[in-house]
Order: sequence, then C-alpha cells, then structure tokens
Amino acid sequence: MNTTYERDLEAKGYIDEPVNPQLDLVEEINRLKKEKNAVILAHYYQDAEIQDIADYIGDSLGLSQEAAKTEADVIVFAGVHFMAETAKILSPQKRVLLPDLKAGCSLSDSCPPHLFAKFKEQYPDHLVITYVNCTAELKALSDIVCTSSNAVQIVESLPLTQKIIFGPDRNLGAYVKKKTGRDLVLWNGACMVHEIFSQEKIDDLREMYPDAKFIAHPECEDHILATADYVGSTSGMLKYTINDSSSTYIVATESGIIHQMQKASPHKKFIPAPPNNACACNDCPHMKLNTLEKLYNCLKYEAPEVTLPEEVIVRAQKPIERMLEISARLGL
Ligand code: 13P
Ligand code: SF4
Repeated sequence: MNTTYERDLEAKGYIDEPVNPQLDLVEEINRLKKEKNAVILAHYYQDAEIQDIADYIGDSLGLSQEAAKTEADVIVFAGVHFMAETAKILSPQKRVLLPDLKAGCSLSDSCPPHLFAKFKEQYPDHLVITYVNCTAELKALSDIVCTSSNAVQIVESLPLTQKIIFGPDRNLGAYVKKKTGRDLVLWNGACMVHEIFSQEKIDDLREMYPDAKFIAHPECEDHILATADYVGSTSGMLKYTINDSSSTYIVATESGIIHQMQKASPHKKFIPAPPNNACACNDCPHMKLNTLEKLYNCLKYEAPEVTLPEEVIVRAQKPIERMLEISARLGL
C-alpha cells in the first residue's frame, strides 16, 4: 500500500526549472506571495535564506498552530512532507505547497503505516500517541499526536492507568518514559540526523570549552541526552540559549537552528555537536532539499501541491486537534 507521500511523488514530481540568475529572488518571492495571498511557514532546520524570507519560523508545534489559524489562501511549507501534510489536514480548504516533494523524513519512513497497524493490533487496550514526524496515514491510526514540545505533558495529561503505545521515535519515547515514569510500548523508529552524534567528539569539545553548555534534542540517543545540560524541542533549545547566561553552547540537533540562536544572541558562540563521521555539520538531507529557487518556482507555478484523500484528512484531524486542545489548555 502506497502512502500519500509516495503517491504525491509519483503523481506530480516537482518543478525544477532553472531560474534566471539575474532575478532578485527575495523580491520576486515577496511579490508572488502578495499576489497569491500566500504565507511561507518555515521550520528552524531550513537554510538561513529561507528562514529569513518566511512569514513564520518555528518548531513542529508552532508550525501546526500557525497552519491551523492562517487566513492565507496558499500555504508554502518550507519543511518536509509530513509537516506539509499536517498543514493540509488542519486547513484542508487551502492549497498546501512543498518546494520539493522529495523532502521526506527518515523517522517517518521508519514507521510504515501497514506495519504499525499490525503492531497496534497486539495492544487492543492501549491508546496510541504518535510523534508528529509521521505520515498522515499513521496519524489516522492514532488517538493523539504530539511534538517534542508537548510529548511529556500529553502523556502526563492521561490517567495513570491508561496503557499507551508511543511511536515512531524510540529515543523521544525513551525520554518521555524517563521523564514521566510511565511504561510506554515503543515503536522502534529513529531519525538519521539525531542518532549520528559522537559522544567522544562531544566530550573532546566539552574539554576544549569547559564553560560551554551542552544542549540536545530528545530525538538524540539516551547516552547523549544523559550528559546534556538541557534537553528540549528546537524552540525550547532556542529559548534556553536566550535566557541562559553562558557564552558558548554545543548544540545537538540539526544545524539550521543555529541561525536563529545566533540572530537572537549575536555575542554568543554556537558549536554544532559533531557527528561520528568525517562531516563537520549535521544537516538533515531532507530539510536541505528546499532551496530559494525551488521556493520561487513553487510559488510561481503553485506546485508541487500536497494533497490527501478526504477520508485520511477526517481521521487524522481528530488526533492533531486533540494535541492542539491539550497544548492550548496547558499554555504550550
Ligand atoms: P521540533 O521542531 O518539534 O523540535 O522537531 C524537530 C524535528 O526533527 C523536525 O523534523
Ligand atoms: Fe526527519 Fe530527522 Fe530530518 Fe527531522 S531531522 S525531518 S526527524 S530526518
């Protein structure tokens, strides 16, 4: 069974037309945005130039909240496919565009919906909480969606006797288990970017910068999180670096977030936590598929568009809305 992501890819491909190098892309994108009453939502992992042209930059929770309330006719999602799907589920009457349809997610891919449906059958009395980094089909199989900003609070909002399946991220799941003391049944999925950090190289950096704070995203492995001074979502990490008094931070998440950290605290130093390979950074290859050129073509041709079957939208809406309600109640 193909997911909507695979069907989108098969059906539409994407507009990869060469762009005239003389064009002022920022000016053109702003002009097209006005003309089409479009809004650009960008995740913190996007390239700096895309973040700088966006109307709203945020983490997965903030982006879903924004997608749910926007008055624009067209949403250009500078992020990955599951994020654009979430925007479509929350605003089905709007056109949702993704600059590159191939911008997928290794974590989402690690949980095929047909296998998860079989897994779920083994635990008929469990409630299903899924991390937003998954396909629309997986959300449709869930009771509540969560993000890394609210996963702990969502689990805590449920009665202690409630049995829970948590998927697809085993690392976020293990972190939530630890924080809440609850016994969650975990799906064995992971993100390729957050499982690549080298403990040894992080330790070396901490020796070199003894006053630096080490901050990490909960998609990282437990042994990395155990040594962190702060663990949180991208927006949580950003806030931490603004409010904390240290002058240096070693940052264990996708390196795109450093653009906002540096903008908010220009006098501080931010070092991307090194991966266990020869590469010096930790870019998400999916997030980085979007470019300013593709963003321009996407607005110009209003393609590629992310679409979903009505039946999937209806089923996936409930667990996302449940998350947004709990988050609003808790002021998240
Ligand atoms: P947040 O933006 O919710 O922290 O999630 C990070 C991520 O991996 C998105 O793909
Ligand atoms: Fe998916 Fe990981 Fe990239 Fe986030 S950083 S989009 S979880 S592959």
